[in-house]
Amino acid sequence: TNSLPVYSQEEVTKHCAIEKGIWVTYKGSVYDVTDFVAIHPGGDKILLAAGKALEPFWALYAVHEQEHVLEILSKYKVGIL
Ligand code: HEM
Repeated sequence: TNSLPVYSQEEVTKHCAIEKGIWVTYKGSVYDVTDFVAIHPGGDKILLAAGKALEPFWALYAVHEQEHVLEILSKYKVGIL
Protein backbone atom coordinates (compact mmCIF):
# COMPACT_ATOMS: atom_id res chain seq x y z
CA THR A 1 0.00 0.00 0.00
CA ASN A 2 0.99 3.65 -0.22
CA SER A 3 -0.50 4.97 3.02
CA LEU A 4 0.71 8.43 3.95
CA PRO A 5 2.00 9.35 7.42
CA VAL A 6 -0.31 10.75 10.10
CA TYR A 7 0.70 14.18 11.43
CA SER A 8 -0.48 15.99 14.56
CA GLN A 9 -1.83 19.55 14.39
CA GLU A 10 1.25 20.52 16.46
CA GLU A 11 3.57 19.20 13.73
CA VAL A 12 1.57 21.01 11.04
CA THR A 13 1.64 24.26 13.01
CA LYS A 14 5.46 24.22 13.03
CA HIS A 15 5.48 24.46 9.22
CA CYS A 16 4.52 28.10 9.00
CA ALA A 17 7.57 29.71 7.37
CA ILE A 18 9.38 29.30 4.06
CA GLU A 19 12.55 28.06 5.76
CA LYS A 20 10.60 25.38 7.70
CA GLY A 21 8.21 24.63 4.87
CA ILE A 22 4.62 25.81 4.45
CA TRP A 23 2.04 23.17 5.38
CA VAL A 24 -1.73 23.53 5.37
CA THR A 25 -4.64 21.19 6.14
CA TYR A 26 -7.86 20.66 4.23
CA LYS A 27 -10.63 18.18 5.07
CA GLY A 28 -8.37 15.97 7.19
CA SER A 29 -5.37 15.89 4.84
CA VAL A 30 -2.00 17.61 5.17
CA TYR A 31 -0.34 19.44 2.27
CA ASP A 32 3.21 20.75 1.87
CA VAL A 33 2.62 23.74 -0.41
CA THR A 34 6.08 25.29 -0.01
CA ASP A 35 6.77 25.04 -3.75
CA PHE A 36 3.36 26.47 -4.66
CA VAL A 37 3.64 29.70 -2.65
CA ALA A 38 5.65 31.53 -5.32
CA ILE A 39 3.16 30.61 -8.09
CA HIS A 40 -0.10 31.15 -6.15
CA PRO A 41 -2.39 33.39 -8.26
CA GLY A 42 -3.51 35.12 -5.03
CA GLY A 43 0.08 35.98 -4.08
CA ASP A 44 1.28 36.18 -0.47
CA LYS A 45 -2.26 35.80 0.92
CA ILE A 46 -1.62 32.07 0.94
CA LEU A 47 0.80 32.59 3.83
CA LEU A 48 -2.09 33.60 6.10
CA ALA A 49 -3.02 29.90 6.19
CA ALA A 50 0.53 28.64 6.85
CA GLY A 51 0.45 25.89 9.49
CA LYS A 52 -3.35 26.07 9.62
CA ALA A 53 -6.61 24.90 8.09
CA LEU A 54 -7.57 26.28 4.67
CA GLU A 55 -11.34 26.08 5.31
CA PRO A 56 -11.89 29.48 7.01
CA PHE A 57 -9.85 31.26 4.31
CA TRP A 58 -11.44 29.48 1.39
CA ALA A 59 -14.86 30.27 2.89
CA LEU A 60 -13.96 33.92 2.36
CA TYR A 61 -12.30 33.48 -1.05
CA ALA A 62 -14.81 31.42 -3.03
CA VAL A 63 -12.54 31.46 -6.10
CA HIS A 64 -11.14 28.20 -4.66
CA GLU A 65 -14.47 26.36 -5.05
CA GLN A 66 -13.45 24.84 -8.36
CA GLU A 67 -12.35 21.38 -9.39
CA HIS A 68 -9.06 22.61 -10.86
CA VAL A 69 -8.06 24.23 -7.56
CA LEU A 70 -8.55 20.93 -5.68
CA GLU A 71 -6.58 19.18 -8.40
CA ILE A 72 -3.62 21.51 -7.77
CA LEU A 73 -3.90 21.04 -4.00
CA SER A 74 -3.96 17.25 -4.31
CA LYS A 75 -0.49 17.23 -5.86
CA TYR A 76 0.97 18.56 -2.62
CA LYS A 77 -0.54 15.99 -0.24
CA VAL A 78 2.01 14.63 2.23
CA GLY A 79 -0.10 13.11 4.97
CA ILE A 80 -3.23 12.68 7.05
CA LEU A 81 -4.19 14.81 10.03
C1 HEM B 1 -6.63 32.46 -6.38
C2 HEM B 1 -4.89 28.11 -5.12
C3 HEM B 1 -4.67 29.56 -0.49
C4 HEM B 1 -6.43 33.87 -1.74
C5 HEM B 1 -6.20 31.13 -6.43
C6 HEM B 1 -6.18 30.31 -7.63
C7 HEM B 1 -5.67 29.11 -7.28
C8 HEM B 1 -5.40 29.14 -5.86
C9 HEM B 1 -5.43 27.91 -8.21
C10 HEM B 1 -6.68 30.74 -9.03
C11 HEM B 1 -8.12 30.30 -9.18
C12 HEM B 1 -8.76 30.75 -10.48
O1 HEM B 1 -8.72 31.96 -10.77
O2 HEM B 1 -9.29 29.90 -11.20
C13 HEM B 1 -4.67 28.13 -3.75
C14 HEM B 1 -4.13 27.03 -2.99
C15 HEM B 1 -4.04 27.45 -1.68
C16 HEM B 1 -4.55 28.81 -1.64
C17 HEM B 1 -3.74 25.66 -3.57
C18 HEM B 1 -3.52 26.73 -0.47
C19 HEM B 1 -2.66 25.73 -0.51
C20 HEM B 1 -5.18 30.83 -0.41
C21 HEM B 1 -5.42 31.56 0.82
C22 HEM B 1 -5.92 32.77 0.46
C23 HEM B 1 -6.00 32.81 -0.99
C24 HEM B 1 -5.13 31.02 2.22
C25 HEM B 1 -6.35 33.94 1.30
C26 HEM B 1 -6.09 34.07 2.58
C27 HEM B 1 -6.59 33.87 -3.11
C28 HEM B 1 -7.10 35.00 -3.87
C29 HEM B 1 -7.16 34.59 -5.20
C30 HEM B 1 -6.69 33.22 -5.24
C31 HEM B 1 -7.49 36.36 -3.31
C32 HEM B 1 -7.64 35.41 -6.43
C33 HEM B 1 -6.48 36.04 -7.12
C34 HEM B 1 -6.95 36.86 -8.33
O3 HEM B 1 -7.57 36.26 -9.22
O4 HEM B 1 -6.67 38.04 -8.37
N1 HEM B 1 -5.73 30.39 -5.37
N2 HEM B 1 -4.91 29.20 -2.91
N3 HEM B 1 -5.54 31.60 -1.49
N4 HEM B 1 -6.34 32.82 -3.97
FE1 HEM B 1 -5.63 31.02 -3.42
